[in-house]
Formats: sequence, C-alpha cells, structure tokens
Amino acid sequence: MRILAIESSCDETGAAVIEKNKTTIKVLSNITATSLAIHAATGGIIPENAAREQVKYIIPTIIKALCKSRIVNQESWEEARIILKKEIDAIAVTHGPGLIGSLLVGVETAKTLSFAFNKPIIPVHHLLAHIYANFISPQTSIPYSLPTNPYPYIGLIVSGGHTDLLYFKSINNYKWLGGTRDDAAGEAIDKIGRLLNLAYPAGPEIEERAKKITKPSIKFKSPLLNSDDFDFSFSGLKTEAMRFIQKNQEINEQIKNEVCFAVQKAVVDVLVKKTVRAAELYNTNTILLGGGVSANETLMNEFKLKIENLKLKINVFSPKKTYCTDNAAMIGAYALMNYKPVNWRKIDAMPDLYFV
Ligand code: KG4
Ligand code: ZN
Repeated sequence: MRILAIESSCDETGAAVIEKNKTTIKVLSNITATSLAIHAATGGIIPENAAREQVKYIIPTIIKALCKSRIVNQESWEEARIILKKEIDAIAVTHGPGLIGSLLVGVETAKTLSFAFNKPIIPVHHLLAHIYANFISPQTSIPYSLPTNPYPYIGLIVSGGHTDLLYFKSINNYKWLGGTRDDAAGEAIDKIGRLLNLAYPAGPEIEERAKKITKPSIKFKSPLLNSDDFDFSFSGLKTEAMRFIQKNQEINEQIKNEVCFAVQKAVVDVLVKKTVRAAELYNTNTILLGGGVSANETLMNEFKLKIENLKLKINVFSPKKTYCTDNAAMIGAYALMNYKPVNWRKIDAMPDLYFV
C-alpha cells in the first residue's frame, strides 16, 4: 500500500509518499517546505504568517513529493497528477493538534484531493505520529533494533508545543500519564535561545554549545525532578535562565555555552528520570521517544547512562533525526500502521485534539 501524507500542523508544510511492505515502512519521498526564515526574523511563530506561507507552499510541496516518489524526468503537475491517480492508494493528513490556520491548509487540501481523485482519506493525530516515526527504518537505537511488536511501551513526546508521557498497550489502547503544566520543553529551549540571541529554533544550537562545556559552573533547577507524578514544568527554568542573563552584564560566548549546558541538563534530567520511572512502574522494557527535542543526542546518552546505572533492561529508541522534527513521513507511517479511512466530509481540523 502506498500513501500520500500531508502535514501542516505548525510552521512546516510537508508532503511524503510512504509505502508499507510486509515488514518495512519505506519513505519514497519526504518534502518539507519551511518558513523558518520568516519565523527567525520574528523570533518565533506568528500563526497568521505560518498559514499564509503554507497556502502558497502546499500544492508545490505535494507535486514535488509525488514526482520524487518515482524518479521522473521532469517535475510537473501533469506527472504528479498521473502518479496520484495511478500509484497512490490513500491520502493521510494531520487533523490536529496544532494551529487552526495551518491545520486547515493541510486538511482542506487533503479533502479536496480525496474527493477529486476518489481516494480514501485517513486523519492522523500529530502527536501519536511523532512516536510512530520510530517505525520508519532505520531509527537510532540503544542498543538493539526496534521489535516488530514493541508493546507495552512508554512513549515520550517532547517537542516545541508538547511534552507528554504515555503508556501504550497497543496502538489504540494507551493511557496518558502526565505532561507539562505550562511550557513545553522545546518552547522553553527556544525562548531561552531567544534571550541568548541564538538562531530560531534554538534546540540544535543549544545542543552544540552545551557540548563545549566539560566542567560546568552554572546549574539551573530541574523543575519537578522529585515530584511523584509524571508531570513536567518548564516555565520556571525559563525564568531562572532569564534572571541569570539579566544579572550578568556581559554574556560572552563562554557564558552562553554555560547557560546552554545548564538549560539542556535541567531539561534532560527530568525527562530521563520520569520516563525511566514510568517504564519501571509499568514494567515495560521499551521506551519510544518522538518530537523535535528527541533529536538531542545528549538526551539519548543520558537515557543510556541512567538505564545502565540502575541495571535495568530497557531499550530506548528515537526516530532518525529527519523524522524527529515535524515531517509528513511520520503521518504516512502512522496511517499505514493504523489504517482507518473515514469519509472526507467527516474530517475537520481539530486544533485542540488531545489524547482520548
Ligand atoms: O516536533 P517539532 O519539530 O515541532 C513541534 O511539533 O513542536 O519540535 C520543534 C522543537 C523546537 O523547540 C526545537 O528547538 C526543538 O524541537 N529541537 C531540539 C533539537 N532539535 C530540535 N531541542 C533540543 N535539541 C535538539 N537537537
Ligand atoms: Zn510536532
């Protein structure tokens, strides 16, 4: 089965063609058009700006993804039309959660294509898709490859908009254990990055700068580190970092790197501690990470250390870096693993879609 997948929940516009064979989920094309330069100029996403760009990008992105799925001599809408008509079995689209204007662009485009080309359509939950990006091979793993049946497992979604911990018994049977009470981990990282004049989004640069610190001299509090629940909170970290930056007259490169290290450590420590505790409590030996922050290598290394130190038999996986941040391939992968087409008239953009 071959699916055209569309993702437009936040600032990216993504289209991908994904295929499922007996055992593998293969990405034939995965195109992401980004309006990052516009958001970098404003230091964050202005929803109206994001949606306006997506309206412009969505059709060219879909055409590109269709043409790239089968190497055609010339990228053209005529070719794309033939590929969609003859080679695509269904269309998958993110229907939530996300920014309403952005979601509408993807959802209405997918519905139009479904109606015009008479293709089944599958609405996909963006956050669950972040976790199921792990099933696109190959993923980063410690130390084994992902089993075909990973259930039960603990899923940690850690992105710019969300920080959620879930227990999965099967693809449709899961329980939300906890999440952030305020800012998402990525959101706090980006806001602190802005205070340090780092490029937006700040995650990758914070990670690179943190690597330069071998003997840290600054420490920030890891929020809710010792609470008994599975909740997170990152707005206090943002305030602590802001106070530190305001107090210091001169923020030179060394101090910037120190702040990056301290911020990353505070975020990573609480994510690792609570996720591993959830795996112990629910007696699972698999943890799947997903979302932009799961691209952070230190996060993965700290998971490994913690598991070794506690002498636990838990394997942690995160998607290949390209599939950690927002992309359409993960939307297609989820739809292929949980194939539930609905009538195109029944799909709505759902900005507040959460976990059932
Ligand atoms: O999943 P994503 O692309 O978008 C949302 O659905 O929110 O996540 C974007 C977030 C941003 O906050 C970005 O700073 C963060 O992921 N991020 C990282 C890294 N790469 C991206 N955070 C820490 N380390 C990274 N290497
Ligand atoms: Zn996302």
